[in-house]
Amino acid sequence: SSPDFAQVRAWLQAAQHVAVLTGAGMSAESGIPTFRDAQTGLWARFNPAELATEEGFRAQPELVWNWYAERRATMAQVEPNAGHYAIAAYQQRHPGRLTVITQNVDGLHQKAGSTDALALHGNIFQDRWLDLCFHARHSGRVCAPDRAQADSPPRCPDCGNLLRPDVVWFGEMLPPATLHAAEQAAQRCTLMLVVGTSGEVYPAAGLAHQARQAGAKVVVVNPHDSDLDGVAHIVLRGTAAQTLPALLCD
Ligand code: NAD
Ligand code: APR
Repeated sequence: SSPDFAQVRAWLQAAQHVAVLTGAGMSAESGIPTFRDAQTGLWARFNPAELATEEGFRAQPELVWNWYAERRATMAQVEPNAGHYAIAAYQQRHPGRLTVITQNVDGLHQKAGSTDALALHGNIFQDRWLDLCFHARHSGRVCAPDRAQADSPPRCPDCGNLLRPDVVWFGEMLPPATLHAAEQAAQRCTLMLVVGTSGEVYPAAGLAHQARQAGAKVVVVNPHDSDLDGVAHIVLRGTAAQTLPALLCD
């Protein structure tokens, strides 16, 4: 443990409010490949422009639905790692002092006990209707999914509306209330830990800049260099599951 590590521990002890911004690297040690790891990342095997977009889904609903079904099956098997549990344990010991903001859709923070994690990109285990429900405007009823065929997105038998994964796709707006809560946490915190994200995607990555501008100390935890190293006061070159338990223990 380096002088940097000791300094971060001191900032943590003195912090009134801590925000933790996490990305795919937070779940790497749970066995979920990150998006941008060239050799194993999801984007190495699929073309994101084809799959993680609304146009892609409308063009090939079965392909995209099955890609998410495969990811859901994978994610349902995996467990939170020591990093997720260290964050949740800290929240138990210091209620209300730490806010989790995650770009991940795997639900692992919630599964580890951080039930109020702000999920900027949604949750892969939830669905929502692709289009506004036709009936609601005309008859007060809502679409009811016909889940007869497992390998294609459930469809409303009356108006043909499709169910889609409740995740934010490329080019889509993030859920406004969640993004607003995340911005509040970024402006209010005195320390932000940025864990396991390349910092390539906005507005999530912008939250680290907002925290810095608001006067918080910013610490990156990442085994490799990232686009957010430049906004950090300290960069800890380590993994989530190895670094967070040592950092967050009392
Ligand atoms: P993007 O550059 O298109 O921006 C994402 C969305 O955020 C855009 O629709 C834009 O309206 C909004 N936005 C961008 N900059 C903003 C800012 N400074 N302030 C407020 N809003 C801003 O990002 P992208 O790479 O196309 O991805 C879109 C989103 O979907 C990202 O958040 C990405 O992480 C997410 N995503 C999720 C998955 C998944 O499977 N969960 C896959 C791909 C992308
Ligand atoms: N511990 C901590 N960080 C790790 C670990 C680990 N064990 N393993 C990898 N990392 C780091 C990598 O160095 C990389 O910087 O995690 C980061 C993963 O970056 P990405 O794969 O780009 O994932 P992320 O930053 O979450 O992507 C942002 O883009 O594709 C969209 O919506 C998707 O939420 C995602 C967003």
